This record gives sequence, C-alpha cells and structure tokens, in this order.
Amino acid sequence: MKSRLAIDGGEPVRTKSFPSRAAGFGEEEMAHLRDVVESGHLFRVGGAKTQQLEERFAALLGMKHAQAVTSGTAALHTAIGAVNPDPGDEIITTPLTDMGTVIGIIYQNAIPIFADVEPGGYHLDPDSVAREITPRTKAIIVVHLWGMAARMDEFLALGREHGIPIIEDCAQAYLTEYKGKLVGTMGRAACFSLQQSKHMTCGDGGLIVTNDDDLADRAKLFADKGWDRSAADRGHLFVGMNYRITELQSAVALAQLGRVEEFVARRRKLGDLLTQKISGIPGVYPPADSRASGNSYWYYPLRVNGEELGMTKERFIAALGAEGVPAWVWLAGQPLYMFDALRLQRTFGNSHHPFDCACASRRVTYEAGICPNAEKTVAQLVTLTLHEFYTEDDVADMAAAIHKVAEAAQKP
Ligand SMILES: Cc1ncc(COP(=O)(O)O)c(C=O)c1O
Repeated sequence: MKSRLAIDGGEPVRTKSFPSRAAGFGEEEMAHLRDVVESGHLFRVGGAKTQQLEERFAALLGMKHAQAVTSGTAALHTAIGAVNPDPGDEIITTPLTDMGTVIGIIYQNAIPIFADVEPGGYHLDPDSVAREITPRTKAIIVVHLWGMAARMDEFLALGREHGIPIIEDCAQAYLTEYKGKLVGTMGRAACFSLQQSKHMTCGDGGLIVTNDDDLADRAKLFADKGWDRSAADRGHLFVGMNYRITELQSAVALAQLGRVEEFVARRRKLGDLLTQKISGIPGVYPPADSRASGNSYWYYPLRVNGEELGMTKERFIAALGAEGVPAWVWLAGQPLYMFDALRLQRTFGNSHHPFDCACASRRVTYEAGICPNAEKTVAQLVTLTLHEFYTEDDVADMAAAIHKVAEAAQKP
C-alpha cells in the first residue's frame, strides 16, 4: 500500500536536518590563517599562501601555470581578457550555466553566442557549437556541468579545425575525469570557482590553469590592472582589472586543497550510491554515475518528467521538501538567456552595448526557443544537495523520500 505523503499529512521520511559543510573547516584552515595574520602580510604579492596555492593546484592537475583570483567569474573574465577579443567578436557557450560564465564575455565587449545542449542532456552539443562558428568566433567556453565531463574530444577537434581556443569552465567540476584525463587540463585554459558550494572553497575565489606561457603572462597582467611587476619602471601594459585574491582567502583555499581528493572521492561514493538507489523510477532521471561521466558531483541534479512521473515538478519538489529532503530549482527553470540581463540586453547605460555596436557583424538577440534542448532540460531540472559530509544513511533517506513520492505519484 502507498504510504501517505507528508505533504498530505502523512509521516515524513526524515525529521532531522542534513549535515552542513561547516565540518569542512577546521584546524588546518585556522593554522594557515594564523600564519597570515601573524605575518602581517595580507597582500598576495610577496605572500606565501597564494604562491603555494597556485603551485599545488597546478601540480594537482599536472599543469604548468595556475593563478588564483577573487572568484570563478573573475577567473573566466581573466581568461577571456587573456584571449583578448576585439569588440564585437563572438564567444560560444552554453545557456545551462551560471551567469559568471558570460559576464566576462560582455565586459570584454564580446558577444555571447548560445549553442544548444545534447537532447536530454546537460552539456553542449558539438554539432550545435559547430553551426554557431563564424569568422568572428574568438573562443568556445565549454562548461562541465554538475561535476560531469562534456565531450572534450569533439570540442578540441573543432577548436583545432577552426583555430579557436577552448576554455574549460570547471567551476563545478573538480577532478572530474574524461577518458583518463582530468577536465581542466585539455583546453587552452580552464577556470575553477572557490565559492562556498564548490568542492573546495574559501567563500569566494577562483583559479585559472593553463600550459600556455603567453596566456599565463597575459592573465597575470589582466588580473593585476595590466601592471607589469617584472619591469623596474612598472608600466601599465593594457587595461585590466584588479582581481587579486588576498592571502586570507588563499590560506583557507590551501587547506581545502589538501582535502579536495578526499572530498571528491566521498562525493563520488555517495552520489553513485544515490544514483544506484533511485535508478529506474519512471519519470525521474538521475545523473550518470562517476564511472560513466567522471562525475565528481557538484550537488545532485535530477531530471523530472512530470507526465511520466504522474506529478508536476513543482509538486514533486514540495512533496520531497515535506518528507524532509529539500529540493530546489536551478536557474529558475530557464536557460541563462531568458534572464532579463541578457534577454533585454541590460548592459552599459541604455546602450545595449556590445549587442548593437557597429563593431558587431550581426544583431544577436535572445528569445525563447533558440536552444530548445536546453529549455527542455532546465525546465525538468530538480536539484538536491549532496556533499562530502553526508552519510550513507542520509543518502538512504533521500532515496526513500524519492521512492515514496514517486510511488504516490503513479496512478493506481
Ligand atoms: C559553471 C559555473 N561557471 C562560473 C561560475 C562563477 O563562479 P563564481 O560564483 O565563483 O564567480 C559558477 C558558479 O557557480 C558556475 O557554476
């Protein structure tokens, strides 16, 4: 017999709250922070922690250069600044991403071009990307979403064929594997976020990695006001930002870096367990597990097909919440280009720059329907929290609540 849902007055599966990530911060973070405070040197230049963070992160990925900055958004802006588009150039990316992926494109006066994702999937479709390439395409930003790898071989081949750099957005994808390689090691540059929800964090921060010496040099300048610290007379070589991270942030990130492999292993174990426990429920599609997708699990996305499930996504979310398993909607259920900032092209003053700039070769606008697969995926998306401090029992409760709600949804 179906048990009565908590949303309808039944007993909830779970009444206690889930573990917080606060357990991830402790003595190691305090020790590095104490070093910084006692040294009296909080500025990254001349400090030890940022340098160690950069060296160790580069070593973890087997890359030549890593540069720490103030956020994932800053990392992406810096990578774009280093690629140095001309105003009106185009950069192709996915509409299933955080706004931080495209802000730097627009601030560099380039135009984000949204390609569609694979049908029923989360990642860019290489064929759709290929269709968007024009002589003005300056870069392709491939996002590895939710900790799963995008189809890098195809993107790298496209990049080689057209002479276009691939930037990997790994904000959600620490130590994600793709055909035996780590994501972030294959493109011209890769960007990571150290924001609170990420696999390693210092509250806010970011990292750029590359094997390209010229790009690394330019990125370093871009995030430091274009100010050349190698020269005695220190000229400003070009216009850049101040995206310098502080030693305090780096201290915490350095401690977290020491545990990121452990955190990812734990997320994989728990994420795969949940995927195994809820596979096969009609209308509820879990993400591919870590063997199939290299998944390192940034949160836990589900696709919910209301018709197959017999319940709307909204009721599914409310019912899970009532069972004691909070679920939420990412991107407000819409692709990035449907947010007012992009759809109405609210950029600089009332100019709509760079979209209606004479420097652009065409008038790019965004409206519903331009990426139908992305719209369908994001409309079905339900997100659950899952991280390294969850236990197997927590995962069992999550699975039990999902089964209970799905069974109640099925018609008798
Ligand atoms: C895919 C993706 N790109 C970029 C960003 C921006 O990172 P930040 O919030 O650190 O600026 C995020 C943040 O969640 C993200 O998920």
